[in-house]
Amino acid sequence: MIISITSLKGGVGKSTISQNLAVCFAHMGYRVAIIDTDTNASSIHWSGIRDEELPKITVVGITESNALRKNIKEIQENYDVVIIDGTPSLSKLVSTILILGDIVIVPIRPSGLDIWATEKFMEHFEQAKALREEIPAYFLLNEFNPKIKLNQEIKKALVELEIKTLESSLRHRIAYEEVCVMGKGAYEYRDPKAKREVTQLANEVLEILKSL
Ligand SMILES: Nc1ncnc2c1ncn2[C@@H]1O[C@H](COP(=O)(O)OP(=O)(O)OP(=O)(O)O)[C@@H](O)[C@H]1O
Ligand SMILES: [Mg+2]
Repeated sequence: MIISITSLKGGVGKSTISQNLAVCFAHMGYRVAIIDTDTNASSIHWSGIRDEELPKITVVGITESNALRKNIKEIQENYDVVIIDGTPSLSKLVSTILILGDIVIVPIRPSGLDIWATEKFMEHFEQAKALREEIPAYFLLNEFNPKIKLNQEIKKALVELEIKTLESSLRHRIAYEEVCVMGKGAYEYRDPKAKREVTQLANEVLEILKSL
C-alpha cells in the first residue's frame, strides 16, 4: 500500500509524519520504505543517522515525476508499506503523488497562514481530479491544540472543504523535533503522549486502508 504525504506548504510536517508513521509500521512488523521526493532530502538524512539495531526502514530519493511513476511498482513489490514524503514545490511531482496514494494525507497546521495556503492546494487537487476522479485524501491537523480557539475554528472550517479530516491529530511536541535528529520516531522515544498519538494515527490510517 502507498501512503502519500503531501502539501504545497513547506514546513507543515510532511517529513515528520512520514518518518513517524514509518517507525510505527516497522514496529508492527511491516516492511517499510520511504520515498523522499524533496530535494532537501530530510528523510534521507534521517535514514543516514538511524541506528541499525532499530527496525529497518528503507529510504530512497526520487525527485522526478516520471521516475517516481516508473520505479514505484518495483518498490511496492518489495515492501508492505511505501510512504511518499512529498515536496512543497508546485510541480508535476505533486500531481503524481496525489495519483499514486492509496491514501493521501495532507498535513495542515491550524494557523491562518496555513489555511490560506490550503486554497492553493485545493486548486491543484481539483486539477489532479482530471487524472484520478476519486482521490482518497485526508487532512491531518499537525501542531494542533484543542484548547486554542483559533485551532478549533480552523478545524471547523475544514469541514466545508471536500477533503475529510482524520480524527487523529498531532500536538506540538518537542519529542518530534528531538527524534527527527536522532533518526528515530516518537514510538521509540520517552514521551508517552507522543508515542500514543502517533500510534493512534498509524492505526487510523491502517483502518482506512483496510476499508478501501
Ligand atoms: N507536531 C510537531 N511538534 C513539534 N515540532 C514539529 C511538529 N511537526 C513538525 N515539527 C517540526 O517542524 C519542522 C518542519 O517539519 P517537517 O520538516 O516535517 O515539515 P515538511 O513539511 O516536511 O517541510 P518541507 O516542506 O521543508 O519538507 C521540523 O523542524 C519538525 O521537527
Ligand atoms: Mg520535508
